[in-house]
Amino acid sequence: MKFFARAPGKIIITGEHFVVHGSLALAAAIDRGALVEAEAFERIEVVSKNLGLSASGTKKSPRPLKPTLETIKDTLEFVGERRGARVVINSDLPVSSGLGSSSAVAVATVAATSSALGHKLSLEEIVDLAMVSEKVVHGRPSGVDVNVAAYGGVILFRMGERPRQIKLNKNVEFIISYSGIERKTSRMVAKFSDMRQMYPNIFASLVLSSSRLTEMATDALAKSDLTTLGTIMNFFHMVLSRLGVSTRKLDDMVEGALEAGCLGAKLTGAGGGGCTIALPRYGEAKIIEEVLKKRGSDASIVRLPLGGVKVWKGESQ
Ligand code: MEV
Repeated sequence: MKFFARAPGKIIITGEHFVVHGSLALAAAIDRGALVEAEAFERIEVVSKNLGLSASGTKKSPRPLKPTLETIKDTLEFVGERRGARVVINSDLPVSSGLGSSSAVAVATVAATSSALGHKLSLEEIVDLAMVSEKVVHGRPSGVDVNVAAYGGVILFRMGERPRQIKLNKNVEFIISYSGIERKTSRMVAKFSDMRQMYPNIFASLVLSSSRLTEMATDALAKSDLTTLGTIMNFFHMVLSRLGVSTRKLDDMVEGALEAGCLGAKLTGAGGGGCTIALPRYGEAKIIEEVLKKRGSDASIVRLPLGGVKVWKGESQ
């Protein structure tokens, strides 16, 4: 029997990078993600439709599929299964773009594989197993991406703690734009972490400020105070850019969104390429999206909040 699982990608609204060093981060699920189909099989086999790659336990595996193979092995071991599994991945998230593609794949893989073999895992167990593949991909992840992919919604997250769901007064729309440039999260995290060695005291103060500003951003988002939220986003972009994880293109995209009338804009995720998010005033998302598209951006609107991982039996939905 085939089981399907769909897990969302994410945006980080505030606190990326600082979260790896103990800060809070505010993050949210988006309407793009990974769809994984799984069934019991005589061995482990993985097919990635979007990457055009496949791997089976018996052949030399392509490098991009190694984290998924590890995730499946760990999931089977955790549930005490001797059978293998055949897993087919489809994702509409661009890879290495800051939208949490690897986490969405990992979470959907764990959820679909365990269900296909008749085991129901808790969200906490799914997060723990998906973190195995995140560590293969990113080295030292905070876990924020995996937690959003599993729990969905808007979460306030601190490394090593259960995420707190944030209730919104009203739906909020963000505009996501992709720079078209791929980058490695682990490289950006290492670059950012170098600052800690160079300026330990300044760095510690910035981590504390990031946490405090993230609390303020959370409060503003929950109460639909978009002006305060936008100001905090702008502040984060400025600091992330000064600390070396932005690029000329990302800075231009942020400026472009602010010029078009957004209240705030920043890079989202690891930076060095990837995506920006921008916050329009209520009722202005569509018009700003059109302005940005006319200027050549691939801007798209996401309306928060959205759900986390979903599992079902039978046919793809
Ligand atoms: C990547 O989406 C977010 C970073 O903060 C890394 C992490 O939290 O693991 C850059």
